[in-house]
Amino acid sequence: MTSTSLPDSLIATLPGSYYTDPGIFAQEQEHIFEAMWFCVARSCDLTGPGAFKTVDVGRESILVTRARDNSVRAFFNVCRHRGAKLCTEESGEVKRAFQCPYHAWTYDLTGKLVAAPNLTKMPDVGRTEYGLANVATREWLGYVWVCLAETPPSFEEQIVGEVVARLGDVESIERYDMESLEVGRRIVYDVKANWKLIIENFMECYHCATIHPELTEVLPEFADGYAAQYYVGHGVEFGADIKGFTVDGSEGLDRIPGVAEDQDRRYYAITVPPQVFINLVPDHVIFHRMYPVAVDRTIVECDWLYLRDVVDSGRDLSRSVELFDRVNRQDFDACERCQPAMSSRLYAKGGVLVPSEHHIGAFHDWIHERLGTRQPE
Ligand code: FES
Ligand SMILES: [Fe+2]
Repeated sequence: MTSTSLPDSLIATLPGSYYTDPGIFAQEQEHIFEAMWFCVARSCDLTGPGAFKTVDVGRESILVTRARDNSVRAFFNVCRHRGAKLCTEESGEVKRAFQCPYHAWTYDLTGKLVAAPNLTKMPDVGRTEYGLANVATREWLGYVWVCLAETPPSFEEQIVGEVVARLGDVESIERYDMESLEVGRRIVYDVKANWKLIIENFMECYHCATIHPELTEVLPEFADGYAAQYYVGHGVEFGADIKGFTVDGSEGLDRIPGVAEDQDRRYYAITVPPQVFINLVPDHVIFHRMYPVAVDRTIVECDWLYLRDVVDSGRDLSRSVELFDRVNRQDFDACERCQPAMSSRLYAKGGVLVPSEHHIGAFHDWIHERLGTRQPE
């Protein structure tokens, strides 16, 4: 029992402060984003040795690159000398080393300290010990994840396990061969809302009939308000007269060859906490990454992935991209509509979840568990 006054049909959400309090956001940065596996890049964005990206993960800036053997490496973007931010660009390429712009300490692509003014006169300075501090990395589905924890949690449990919990097995996603797909389109959304509002929105379909006319046309089942994520292994079937997952239901692009017969003409959505959403349809994959930048602001980067031939041949992707781009804008508008009201005194104790949203309660329990907080009685 979380409340004595609620009717059986309703359960309480988090209190409004969880969406507005910078102190709670700082706790989430520490106990969620800096403690868990966090997706930072599409593998192919790091085109080769020396190509780099800088990404904020929780309160830290992280430098992600490839070493000469092409392996992905990630480091705290902090010079070991006197702490200057090593790379200030969002992305770029170095030839063979990163040089600090302050006193020119120089690190190779594995993070080792390889040069510094007068370094030879300091033979006792360990090149690895005073090299860049490493962060754990993993590549899966054609994306790069990092984990800032000293002892990272199991990637298999946190990330792969979440996909398996939704689809029933790992083969169901591997059939889409996401590593070999190409980014046909990338759209970055700047959403003025707390990251949890975006996750909660993605987890339920109670809103689908109201705000997603195009999506419910293609997936009529969604008009009933039950999220596909509710049932293990269930994919939502396209409407009978729908040819493809496009804004007007017209023909899509070439089907990904590995997609099984029973996955054809179906849509699967997967939430991988804390910041990834994946949508699978027969001819493409839509991959969202969220970057929470403030308690009331989240950057969402969304990739539309297609077969390499489809992208290289320059075929028109616009009707395909437009469907979920519209869905995203409809969803993010809804989240932005909620955000200002989170600080209303009316919302101090939060709102309520109807039965088709009750599974969001498990997400709230998870937040409490990570932060060591408790829903007030
Ligand atoms: S702070 Fe980087 S070399 Fe001095
Ligand atoms: Fe939605």
